[in-house]
Amino acid sequence: MNKDYIKPFEWSIVEEGFDPENVEASESLFSIGNGSMGQRANFEENYSGKTFQGSYIGGIYYPDKTRVGWWKNGYPEYFAKVLNAPNWIGIDIQINETELDLNTCKVSNFKRELNMKEGWLSRSFNAILETGEEIQVNTKRFISLEYNETGAIEYAVKAINFSGEITFSPYIDAGIVNEDSNYDEYFWEILKIVSGRNSGCILSKTLKTAFHLATAMEVLFAVNNEKVNALQQTEVEEKSLHYTYTLNVNKGDTATIYKYGSCVSSLNYPKEDLIEVAFDNVKKAHKLGFLNLLESQKVAWSNIWHTADIIIEGDIKAQQGIRFNIFQLNQTYLGTDARLNIGPKGFTGEKYGGSTYWDTEAYCIPFYMATKDASVAKNLLLYRYNQLDKAIENAEKLGFKNGAALYPMVTMNGEECHNEWEITFEEIHRNGAMIYGIYNYVNYTQDFEYVPKFGLEVMIAVARFWHQRANFSEAKGQYVVLGVTGPNEYENNVNNNFYTNYLAKWCIQYAVECLNRVEQEYPADFKRVMAKTKLTNKEAKKWLQVAENMYFPFSLEHNVYLQQDGFLDKELIPVAELESSERPINQKWSWDRILRSCYIKQADVLQCMFFFENKFGKEDLERHFDFYEPLTVHESSLSPCVHSILAASIDRMPKAYEQYVRTSRLDLDDYNHEVHEGCHITSMAGTWMSIVQGFGGMRVWEDGILTFNPQIPKEWKSYSFTINFRGNIIKVFKSQTECKFFNESGNEIHMIVNKNKILIPSNQLVTI
Ligand code: BGC
Repeated sequence: MNKDYIKPFEWSIVEEGFDPENVEASESLFSIGNGSMGQRANFEENYSGKTFQGSYIGGIYYPDKTRVGWWKNGYPEYFAKVLNAPNWIGIDIQINETELDLNTCKVSNFKRELNMKEGWLSRSFNAILETGEEIQVNTKRFISLEYNETGAIEYAVKAINFSGEITFSPYIDAGIVNEDSNYDEYFWEILKIVSGRNSGCILSKTLKTAFHLATAMEVLFAVNNEKVNALQQTEVEEKSLHYTYTLNVNKGDTATIYKYGSCVSSLNYPKEDLIEVAFDNVKKAHKLGFLNLLESQKVAWSNIWHTADIIIEGDIKAQQGIRFNIFQLNQTYLGTDARLNIGPKGFTGEKYGGSTYWDTEAYCIPFYMATKDASVAKNLLLYRYNQLDKAIENAEKLGFKNGAALYPMVTMNGEECHNEWEITFEEIHRNGAMIYGIYNYVNYTQDFEYVPKFGLEVMIAVARFWHQRANFSEAKGQYVVLGVTGPNEYENNVNNNFYTNYLAKWCIQYAVECLNRVEQEYPADFKRVMAKTKLTNKEAKKWLQVAENMYFPFSLEHNVYLQQDGFLDKELIPVAELESSERPINQKWSWDRILRSCYIKQADVLQCMFFFENKFGKEDLERHFDFYEPLTVHESSLSPCVHSILAASIDRMPKAYEQYVRTSRLDLDDYNHEVHEGCHITSMAGTWMSIVQGFGGMRVWEDGILTFNPQIPKEWKSYSFTINFRGNIIKVFKSQTECKFFNESGNEIHMIVNKNKILIPSNQLVTI
């Protein structure tokens, strides 16, 4: 596809001119969602060109049978897939009985806009049909934040050069298949189709998982903004419900359909009530009307932006890029439901099955924690707490005992659902991220109470896992962790991955530290948790023995920790010396060649230094950065942000900026030539971190003190961001000459800026 076709605007993503080659990429980029449901930017009307239809409902999935050549004990039976759900947006259009299809008619003035400030998607174009009629179309749609099971569409058609018939055929189609279904199976069973006057509903059920979903629509019409009644013809098919309405118009008239859609599921209501609730929702939407719903949408988005916006002056593409990232993160997850999480593609595609990865704890929590109330990040932690039993079962299946837990690498409901050996069984480092998420949350919010109430049980189970997974090496006289894959998936089955060993040690030590504090401060909870987990002091002492004697591969020659035992056996040729025609290596090289190369897919040792920067000196960071950055190919979207943050932290702003640009417009400029599959939602949180933690230098470690060290790329005039720090809204502004903090709250805030203690009184602006 063409790169760089998105026009730069501060608050909007805009495409001008119709190019069928861009349709699928735009369907991803212009997706809309509200944290509970989402919709790719498919056209409402039929399109016979290449398209990837996608409507998704959070939490509704299907266990698609796995495909493997050679079955091994321990393989998960299925790969959970977020389901492509019944299509509620469809409206076919006919002009004097000729179908409108942008693939076959002549299109001009095509413009698509995703308005991020107000949360809506619009499209306008002129089309001349094969039969000569010209129409002008204007559409707008959104998925409501306030009424979170409801979407609304306004679709207006103006007769430019004819008088005659405009036919609208709104429909619900439940005959939907997943693009990524392993065996081309159909995942839905239709239970009931109800048709009425101007409204209808399909009740469907997922096979195997038996989620019930009612998808309803209600429509109404206007000509030249005057409400009109239109005669309805109804067609009920096996898996879909179509209505047809024909309006007579004169040349110059505009005929408009309003379509309200609602998707309600058995996650939230008893099955037998679903149809009624869905009908009530569309009726309510109709009563409120499109403009009132839109108004509430603007207010809801303005509330989100108040605590989440980042303003960049002097670089419009960077401005658009960061807002796009923040917008998509909010469309994916709003933190009101602890059963939901953040899939790497959000609601913009099917890759990664819509499942939860370590991305949530390692990348997303800081974003949600600092731009929303603490309850949102807490819900993300509770998601894992609620899946602890499954993580224990998962570990048992692999031979671990005594309540040890191994959280899945990929999951929907707590069960592991990925079946590549090196990812599922070897990337055990994700267990550490579960605890890092808690640590981060406690540092930032100071809500230590989360630990005795919930977190401690998770910590104990994970500490047990590391204790059992490490073994004593007689040769080394220390504990080792063998046969793992680190965050760098371009090396498998390695021994003593530094990142993994470090987390194993740290998880144990942090668990013991928390146990001691809970014993002192929350004795009743301590008793309860000790009884529930049957933990004894003796056992915890044994864990510590492992932690305190953990082995870390180190090179005296390079004075760096090694990514794994065998790293120095590799030919260390910097990425810069690779021909550009060889890259990305994951598309150009055989897997064999990749695995034995020194090339690093994503931050690995550096991921550890990012997580625990306060435990290393600046010179350590510099040495490790200089050793590993030249070998890193950044072929995971999660990589450049970490390098950008570390580069800023060692005062290498040009490098920090270079990596920032790469992360911020990854999708808008389609760096990896894959945006048609969906956007990289979880790495968008990394982009946010690159500004707030990277350029802004924000940190909150164990002492709970908010610290900043703001720097600015020379390419920008200024930037500013907002954080919600323990309920206090703080705005940070940095230009080439100035640094200002505004405390919008009623409390004074103590912080450290550039190593100096400062106090910002309530409602005051302080210039540093
Ligand atoms: C990365 C993983 C990540 C996954 C989902 C992979 O490419 O290597 O670290 O969890 O994508 O984002």
